[in-house]
Amino acid sequence: MSTGLFLTLEGIDGAGKSSHIDALEALFKAAGRQVTRTREPGGTLLAEALRTLVLNEAMDPLTESLLVFAARRDHIVRVIEPALARGEVVLCDRFTDATFAYQGAGRGFDETVLSSLERWVQAREDAPLLQPALTLWFDLPPGIAAERLAGARLPDKFESQPVEFFRRVAAGYAARAAAAPRFARIDANRSRGQVWAQIEAALAERGLPGSDVR
Ligand code: TYD
Repeated sequence: MSTGLFLTLEGIDGAGKSSHIDALEALFKAAGRQVTRTREPGGTLLAEALRTLVLNEAMDPLTESLLVFAARRDHIVRVIEPALARGEVVLCDRFTDATFAYQGAGRGFDETVLSSLERWVQAREDAPLLQPALTLWFDLPPGIAAERLAGARLPDKFESQPVEFFRRVAAGYAARAAAAPRFARIDANRSRGQVWAQIEAALAERGLPGSDVR
């Protein structure tokens, strides 16, 4: 039976997660695994259209939460579940932890509502909720992330939030990480090489990438 591996990357804007996705993909491919690389909000035509709205339009936090979960549902049904069923590695840049961190902790939206939406959207027949097997959490002090982001490019709706917003988002990630062993904390306040070494160590602890394609 093929067993896919669902791996997500999380962290506040500017934490540097995106700069390691290429290397992660290469690592799993070198071990003989097929890799589906994707992102949230996004990953399908519909979800990418919703992403454009979420990242650019002002809206109340319930509307925003419904849109990210609608995008997620489409993404799960069309991309994530089929890839996992084929036994692939799904490398996803952000997933539901980002909703708890940004809409929940950042915007102060009701986390019990988010938990309900999570149960609706990630439900599977005769199986526990769909959750990542491993979440690489890039932890960086918000002040340093803001310095890294400054002048990098035209900021979107979230990137242009004040540092206080990102302090709440970072606290949201920390709370989520404390509650779930699937999180591996990566100290992102290190050189690129040292960050990668931590990623490799977190994978190795879990027997990944592994060489046997099951
Ligand atoms: P990001 O993943 O950082 O992509 P890029 O590097 O191209 O900017 O941007 C996605 C933004 O969307 C980020 O600011 C976090 C936000 N977001 C939410 O607010 N809620 C969510 O559920 C997700 C997945 C992302």
